[in-house]
Amino acid sequence: MVDLQAVLDSIYKELTPRIGEGKVADYIPELAKIDPHQFGMAVVTVDGKIYRAGDAGVPFSIQSISKVFMLTLALGKVGEGLWKRVGREPSGSAFNSIVQLEHEHGIPRNPFINAGAIAVTDVVMAGHAPREAIGELLRFVRYLADDESVTIDEKVARSETQTGYRNFALANFMRAYKNIDHPVEHVLGVYFHQCALSMSCEQLAKAGLFLAARGSNPMTGHSVVSPKRARRINALMLTCGHYDGSGDFAYHVGLPGKSGVGGGIFAVAPGVASIAAWSPGLNKVGNSQLAAVALEMLAARTGWSVF
Ligand code: DON
Repeated sequence: MVDLQAVLDSIYKELTPRIGEGKVADYIPELAKIDPHQFGMAVVTVDGKIYRAGDAGVPFSIQSISKVFMLTLALGKVGEGLWKRVGREPSGSAFNSIVQLEHEHGIPRNPFINAGAIAVTDVVMAGHAPREAIGELLRFVRYLADDESVTIDEKVARSETQTGYRNFALANFMRAYKNIDHPVEHVLGVYFHQCALSMSCEQLAKAGLFLAARGSNPMTGHSVVSPKRARRINALMLTCGHYDGSGDFAYHVGLPGKSGVGGGIFAVAPGVASIAAWSPGLNKVGNSQLAAVALEMLAARTGWSVF
């Protein structure tokens, strides 16, 4: 086994001159204020060891990475029935695109583009008031990370509520096709709060460890999903987790991964480790520029690519 701490240290050292590359998300005003000169990385191995570099302990807005946790909850609730509401194919379009929805009867291509994630949130809300659904997700993520200090950044949630015009359009469009059951404002209230989950790389890598370890968290002993379901969530992350950048991420990194416009990327080396990298500057398709480079370096230096 490679010396993982030495690998992380070398990645951090080599990337230090580049920290600040990319452009922070500015369509959510609260995220536009984030200092781009930050970089963190954490790796948690399935035998429970934690490795950190840079700002691994600094909480950031996990944004779309939350879609992995909401998807896990939705599958737990309705199982394979979820696929009546959302597809499992890459979209080849931007994360917030509306174009396919009209031709495809309001059924989003996959659970990770915004439209798909909004439909997934609607599924989780069944039988719950919005506040309860948010509470359920927060409890779930705290349980996964084994850390009660995970919070939701209300300012970020509010900021997106005020400016999330595209998400309102997507949700209204799907409601017209009867693929959203709850009032749009309620669904988006939950969705914006899930995206505003604030977590550090270390917390994120811990929370996602079950996906690297056949569905169970070896640090807590909690069984979260079946091995089959963990495999399938990983398959969706590999094919759709980076939107129209998914092919490129698979090509360069070769791991299932999920990005967020807060600059985080969560990735899984199945059977080996879960990984989180963060740097706020984004590339053209809205994925963290340096976090992707860091993951490419990690995969190359450890041989963890699934291919
Ligand atoms: O709905 C949105 O636009 C944001 N809350 C999340 C988008 C996102 O993270 C896309 N990922 N790179």
